[in-house]
Amino acid sequence: MRILTLACAAGLAGALALPAAADMAAGKAKADMACAVCHGAQGIATLPNAPNLAGQPQMYLAEQLKNYRSGKRTHEVMGVIAKPLTDQEIEDTSAWYASLQVEVREAK
Ligand code: HEC
Repeated sequence: MRILTLACAAGLAGALALPAAADMAAGKAKADMACAVCHGAQGIATLPNAPNLAGQPQMYLAEQLKNYRSGKRTHEVMGVIAKPLTDQEIEDTSAWYASLQVEVREAK
């Protein structure tokens, strides 16, 4: 499935500029291969020190990945993982994780 992402108003465009389309199938394939071992097959983390990615906003996820890639956000593992990601891979994986639906319940 392909979803179109419209460019934001001029003020936001610099920081948040996104490629025109995210490829969800490619995002899932990449996530299965490179991310699932820590973030879980459906974006619910398998490690106690890794965050859940399922259902987080695409824009937020993409921004974090770009920040790890540039070094603006530092983490020894994610910095290495994000370094080789292309803008398209960032959009695709972010779109796929964002598409997963998470249900929240009251604490018991
Ligand atoms: C070896 C384990 C590991 C793998 C593999 C991994 N991550 Fe992470 N990821 C982490 C950890 C640990 C953090 C928390 C880092 C921090 O504290 O900043 C994290 C953080 C993130 C965040 C920030 C989430 C937030 O809520 O701010 C994103 C986005 C992310 N990872 C995406 C990915 C993607 C996409 C991949 C695959 C290309 C991937 N990760 C592969 C361990 C991993």
